[in-house]
Amino acid sequence: MTDFHRIKRLPPYVFEQVNRIKAAARANGADIIDLGMGNPDLPAPRHVIEKLVETAGKPRTDRYSASKGIGGLRRAQAGYYERRFGVKLDPDTQVVATLGSKEGFANMAQAITGPGDVVLVPNPSYPIHAFGFLMAGGAIRSVPAEPTPAFFPALERAVVHSIPKPIAVVVCYPSNPTAYVASLDFYKDLVAFAKKHELIVLSDLAYAEVYFDGEPPPSVLQVPGAVDVTVEFTSMSKTYSMAGWRMGFAVGNERLLAALARVKSYLDYGAYTPVQVAATAALNGPDDCIVEMRDIYRRRRDALVDSFGRAGWPIPTPSASMFAWVPIPEPFRGLGSLEFSKLLVEKADVAVAPGIGFGEHGDDYVRIAIVENEQRIRQAARNIRRFLETADKTLHNVVPLAARR
Ligand SMILES: Cc1ncc(COP(=O)(O)O)c(C=O)c1O
Repeated sequence: MTDFHRIKRLPPYVFEQVNRIKAAARANGADIIDLGMGNPDLPAPRHVIEKLVETAGKPRTDRYSASKGIGGLRRAQAGYYERRFGVKLDPDTQVVATLGSKEGFANMAQAITGPGDVVLVPNPSYPIHAFGFLMAGGAIRSVPAEPTPAFFPALERAVVHSIPKPIAVVVCYPSNPTAYVASLDFYKDLVAFAKKHELIVLSDLAYAEVYFDGEPPPSVLQVPGAVDVTVEFTSMSKTYSMAGWRMGFAVGNERLLAALARVKSYLDYGAYTPVQVAATAALNGPDDCIVEMRDIYRRRRDALVDSFGRAGWPIPTPSASMFAWVPIPEPFRGLGSLEFSKLLVEKADVAVAPGIGFGEHGDDYVRIAIVENEQRIRQAARNIRRFLETADKTLHNVVPLAARR
């Protein structure tokens, strides 16, 4: 059997390699502190779980639901956008519920991508931002991830030199993996650029509510006229710690959302109705659970920056997201992020995500997720301190020369 066309576009997940070593270490009894995957460890809010339980078993709730989401859920999402961003959305035409934002993003890529269409994707980025388009038969061109003024000349160069002309640009702020945040002024320039070059803007706002300092992250749709070119994705996974429930949203441009809804109508019948009813309750408030979530991650962020810094590994302080994007300590930089991450599991009992898993420009970094409690984070720092103190010996004894870059 020859290789499958689509599967050739999906190399094995880099993170799997670290996961295998992690599983082997655990099987040998090691207590691995897992700061690798961005899997929220907090429980969903009590009142949301109660709503789910109350709804399950009611008449008609076991039937197929609505692919683009029940009306009440779409109205609740429109309500959230109005409260939080001052953005008015028509729940019938400008909101689609998705089976997690990742599914929504991937199916949007399916909906809009023709063979060989070029899409501008930040590097490093969350893998689906690139692979959604590669799976759909498109091609990607990397652009910088950092939302600085240098971003636009790079974007302009990418537009001018892409053949064919790109159809879309992806942005994600607060960003996974880099924790970069963007200002509304940046989005104003982005929308103007997109309109000038006839680009679709796909904004992943999964971390809209996970911020610690400064202003809450804005939405691209706050820019007047952005809705002409923009679809934005949000998620219940991080805001309400409901990652396993698979509930997210796409909102914005009607024509793009109609295309997404069409693809989804062939693929799914919507989430289990009680999940949608409970998600509606979450979005309609109260919001104290969001404040609590933020406080917990902020304390963990502070513990990470403080304890790792004192252990000899300075952490750039993330102001939002669930991640720190951290340069590999100097003595180990030559190893590359995958070998370094494997070494951390084996020698320090700490798992992190290798930056290379997010793109070639990530290889000098690892991503540290604050998904363990403060005590475990401080324990990780103690392990790291011992690891760094023996760096010379480790490099000399353990790492075969061949593994060094
Ligand atoms: C930037 C970003 N987008 C989307 C997702 C996936 O979210 P969901 O659970 O809504 O599919 C994640 C999860 O880690 C993420 O980091």
